[in-house]
Amino acid sequence: MNDHPIGIFDSGVGGTSIWKEINALLPYEDTIYLADSKNAPYGEKAPEAIVALSIKNTELLINEGCKIVVVACNTATTNAIDYLRKNYNVPFIGIEPAIKPAALRSRSKTVGILATKGTLSSSLFHSTSENHAQGIKVIEQVGKGLVPLIEQGKENAPETEELLKNYLTPMLEAGIDHLVLGCTHYPYLVPVLRKLLPENVKIIDSGEAVARQTKFVLDRKGLLNTSKVAGSARFYSNMDTSILKSFLKEVGGAEVLHLNF
Ligand code: DGL
Repeated sequence: MNDHPIGIFDSGVGGTSIWKEINALLPYEDTIYLADSKNAPYGEKAPEAIVALSIKNTELLINEGCKIVVVACNTATTNAIDYLRKNYNVPFIGIEPAIKPAALRSRSKTVGILATKGTLSSSLFHSTSENHAQGIKVIEQVGKGLVPLIEQGKENAPETEELLKNYLTPMLEAGIDHLVLGCTHYPYLVPVLRKLLPENVKIIDSGEAVARQTKFVLDRKGLLNTSKVAGSARFYSNMDTSILKSFLKEVGGAEVLHLNF
């Protein structure tokens, strides 16, 4: 199994932010990435629908021979990872909002979190938040509308900036000193966020931690690729591949293909 690919899925292009971290840490691994853009945003769907979409993506990756599945989507992780772990035999890596490091580092004891409705209303998010953010004021904000804008390649558009301004205002009024990006699409908003946030507000996400955890689990299971040749990368989108390509412009040699799934 060592030379089998790592499977990664997201509701769309956002999980490429996680793919980039994984590829940087594990350059010899082959990867297959699924952008389920046709069904984005997951964050506005009912938990059962998110589980069903996660099953569809997982089965495709397992059929492609993936040795591990990275759920590069906070919404799918918080709603579906328990089900996936119980029902499939491959290891799963999930992503959850980085509430814990934000809470530990916050001096103002006030942190903001921007995530989807599906993530913020999940019980997994609530238990993580209760366990790791005791004594911390957590200002939750649903990033409604942001994923569809990013899916259209409008991450720097004035309408995106306007939405973000509205979402950040209550957080800034409350005195946050950390903003947690609880959706894998949102790292692509960092240039605009940096324009809108004062310098003292740190932006954190979980991308690097997910890559480290992927490496740790592969190593523990004896599944790391022992090759010393750069891995191949295949990206599938069930929508317009040009948008996915634009998020991968700095990635040389990646195959970006259309697939109905
Ligand atoms: N990238 C997904 C996440 O991390 C976006 C969810 C959505 O499609 O709404 O939550």
